[in-house]
Amino acid sequence: MKRVLITGVAGGLGLCLAKEFIRKSYFVFGFDNEHNDKLGLLKAEYADQFEFFRVNTGEDKAVDNAAEMLKKKIDSLDIIINAAAILPPDSANLLEDFDISQAIEVFSVNSLGPLRIVKSLLPLVKNGEDKLIVNISSEAGSMSTHCDYINRYDYCMSKAALNMQSIILQRYLKPDGIKILAVHPGWVRTRMGGWDAPVLPGDSAKGIAKLADKYMHDLDAGIYFDYDGNTRSW
Ligand SMILES: NC(=O)c1ccc[n+]([C@@H]2O[C@H](COP(=O)([O-])OP(=O)(O)OC[C@H]3O[C@@H](n4cnc5c(N)ncnc54)[C@H](OP(=O)(O)O)[C@@H]3O)[C@@H](O)[C@H]2O)c1
Repeated sequence: MKRVLITGVAGGLGLCLAKEFIRKSYFVFGFDNEHNDKLGLLKAEYADQFEFFRVNTGEDKAVDNAAEMLKKKIDSLDIIINAAAILPPDSANLLEDFDISQAIEVFSVNSLGPLRIVKSLLPLVKNGEDKLIVNISSEAGSMSTHCDYINRYDYCMSKAALNMQSIILQRYLKPDGIKILAVHPGWVRTRMGGWDAPVLPGDSAKGIAKLADKYMHDLDAGIYFDYDGNTRSW
């Protein structure tokens, strides 16, 4: 059975991604800093395809410990999907009220969290069949096309940094056959996206799974996509 690790698995998109990959017969390892009833139900229904680990991806030690636990259980991982991220409510503040120390936490989770995960689990991905890393980015990280924000420094900058990280990783890991995707999941109806967002998390998850299928074997050109497969400009 192939294996996928999904961070932010308790969230709106992460949970739908977990369900989608279970449907595709993967074993799903889910990381999140919180457990919830929905994860409990998923585990009850798919005990042989799902396991949850409480992990704060913003902390080095937490990620290292979880990686060590995982390495004792399995020797390969096919896909990593980095979906954990935060968008603090006061991210919308203008410069005058911008909270620098909070921004450091946003960077630690949104930009460095995915790198922590990849760094600590790379040996498993090298042994995997699919050899794919999906960084859930955002249009907010695009320099050329992102919405006309005059605030949200922390979130937009953190996703731009994640995009740059995806480019560097793609270059570095190409000789090992590992592919990286940076994906804007759409404006998704979740706690982060709000309940007026037009894209259902299940539809976004299906699109992302389709992209994974398409690019896991070959990825030569662009790596920044919308969930529906359109190439995005950096
Ligand atoms: N929704 C949108 O419209 C939209 C648009 C563009 C990009 N995105 C991206 O899509 C991804 C999924 O977002 P979503 O809409 O599903 O948001 P969400 O419902 O808020 O889910 C995010 C999940 O990540 C978890 N998380 C946050 N910090 C974490 C940490 N340090 N360690 C472990 N888990 C952590 C959250 O747990 P807690 O609840 O405990 O914090 C939550 O379960 C994110 O990367 C987001 O930036 C979303």
